[in-house]
Amino acid sequence: MPDAEQGPDLSLGIAVSDIPTNGLLRGYVGEDAVLLARVGGDYFAIGASCTHYGGPLADGVLDGHTVRCPWHHACFSLRTGEALRAPAFDPVASWTVEQRGERIFVTGNAKALPTRNPLSGKVPSRIVIVGGGAAGFAAAEQLRRDGYEGSLVMLSDDADPPVDRPNLSKDYLAGAAQEEWVPLRPRDWYRENAIELRLNTKVSKIDPQSREVELADGRRLPYDRLLLATGAEPVRLAIPGADLPHVHVLRTLKDCRAIIAATESARRVVVIGASFIGLEAAAALRTRKLDVHVAAPEKRPLERVFGAELGDFVRSLHEEKGVVFHLENTVVAIEPNKVTLKNGQILDADLVIMGVGVRPRTQLAEQAGLKLDRGVLVNEYLETSAADAFAAGDIARWPDRYSGESIRVEHWVVAERQGQAVARTMLGIGIRYDGVPFFWSQHYDVPIHYVGHAADWDALDIEGDIASRDCVLRYRKGGKVLAVASIHRDVDSLTAEIAMEREVA
Ligand SMILES: Cc1cc2nc3c(=O)[nH]c(=O)nc-3n(C[C@H](O)[C@H](O)[C@H](O)COP(=O)(O)OP(=O)(O)OC[C@H]3O[C@@H](n4cnc5c(N)ncnc54)[C@H](O)[C@@H]3O)c2cc1C
Ligand code: FES
Repeated sequence: MPDAEQGPDLSLGIAVSDIPTNGLLRGYVGEDAVLLARVGGDYFAIGASCTHYGGPLADGVLDGHTVRCPWHHACFSLRTGEALRAPAFDPVASWTVEQRGERIFVTGNAKALPTRNPLSGKVPSRIVIVGGGAAGFAAAEQLRRDGYEGSLVMLSDDADPPVDRPNLSKDYLAGAAQEEWVPLRPRDWYRENAIELRLNTKVSKIDPQSREVELADGRRLPYDRLLLATGAEPVRLAIPGADLPHVHVLRTLKDCRAIIAATESARRVVVIGASFIGLEAAAALRTRKLDVHVAAPEKRPLERVFGAELGDFVRSLHEEKGVVFHLENTVVAIEPNKVTLKNGQILDADLVIMGVGVRPRTQLAEQAGLKLDRGVLVNEYLETSAADAFAAGDIARWPDRYSGESIRVEHWVVAERQGQAVARTMLGIGIRYDGVPFFWSQHYDVPIHYVGHAADWDALDIEGDIASRDCVLRYRKGGKVLAVASIHRDVDSLTAEIAMEREVA
């Protein structure tokens, strides 16, 4: 039986006046945690825990007949429990509610999600997705959820099915998450949903004229609609020793397994680059009690994205945990047990991780003659310059309605939401992608949330106290808030996201 901290027993009823002003109340029914939500004079009840990582929906924000999760901004329907937006895909339970006088009762009887009407109009016979990552997976999942029954092929040169990539630099690398949590779906799911997932399969060419993709073994595969979701690949510095066996990059589950295996004998790690991935890896490896040094050319970690104040905080946070920084410096050579820095200093290193950024994998698009501009150029429907060929995720540069700029970002949730939007466009439902970018980054127990996109800014307002891990930073240009970063201010982050969305709707 849930304890009192989990809120009231909603089957016994709750007074209308006891529902908090944000309209969200967590309680329980039997063994189940339930969220009671008030929208105007109507009441809804759905499962209280987000199906992504279990975020407490009662601490989120209501938006119309939906609720947004405070942790990574997934969105659920209050009417059905359906996960409407990534990063959650599974629905939460839905409950019946009755109002008797001034009391609201959750009467149980979870309702099943309504089945969708069959698709009408001209539906493509075969959709081919190149890429088994965030965007590719979300597109395939959405296509089947929307009732697409045609042939669906997903080609990936990765050895593993789509994985929860953000976990690879966080809990999984730190040893706090089991490997079975890492795949986005078990292998059977692809079979059950008739998604032909071909792993270890490299696409070597696409031919938009004949509407075919060519595999590395020469076989060709026709398509009616093509989604390019080839993501990005880690950059390797061209320095002596970069190809030694103890030098790793981190993109795939295989990369992550190799680093974890190396930690069994390694004691001292040098992380090259104070990027998000480099720093998250540093935090994870400190959790594994390795000595960690970070060498990077910038003055402050993450200053270009977050500004000096938050950059200094990130640095001090890592230093408190024992990370040693070598900033305004870099590694110029790697040897089996040491690295040499630009200033001549030698650091012991039996494990080296390069976190010096990624390069979008645009080779297929380039060779096919698609329009490029530091990524694959797409319009607001994520269509490339070739008919029936779409692009989403890390490779796509799209017209961001909020900033008014053409942008390309490397964010998990953006890739997934673009995958979801493009799935509908491929089915002719035509959803314009006007999502506001969101990402999160985790350093030890400190999550940083960021909505919007500010390549640069002329004013930065700081509300709260960064050092106390309770703050909102607003990045402005010409008076307009372009982006909002926050620590432990989830409602502010969600509210900012909703306000930005409203402005472009
Ligand atoms: C360790 C790590 C941690 C991260 N943490 C966060 C985070 O906390 N928050 C956040 O917002 N973002 C994070 N990111 C970024 C996020 O994971 C990416 O933005 C996201 O994965 C992009 O999705 P995508 O589908 O575009 O590409 P990917 O997920 O990289 O998928 C690309 C797929 O295409 C396949 N592919 C490429 N070329 C070919 C080809 N020619 N033939 C066949 N297959 C091909 C690849 O094998 C892969 O399966 C992290 C990234 C990494 C590596
Ligand atoms: S826990 Fe809800 S979106 Fe991640």
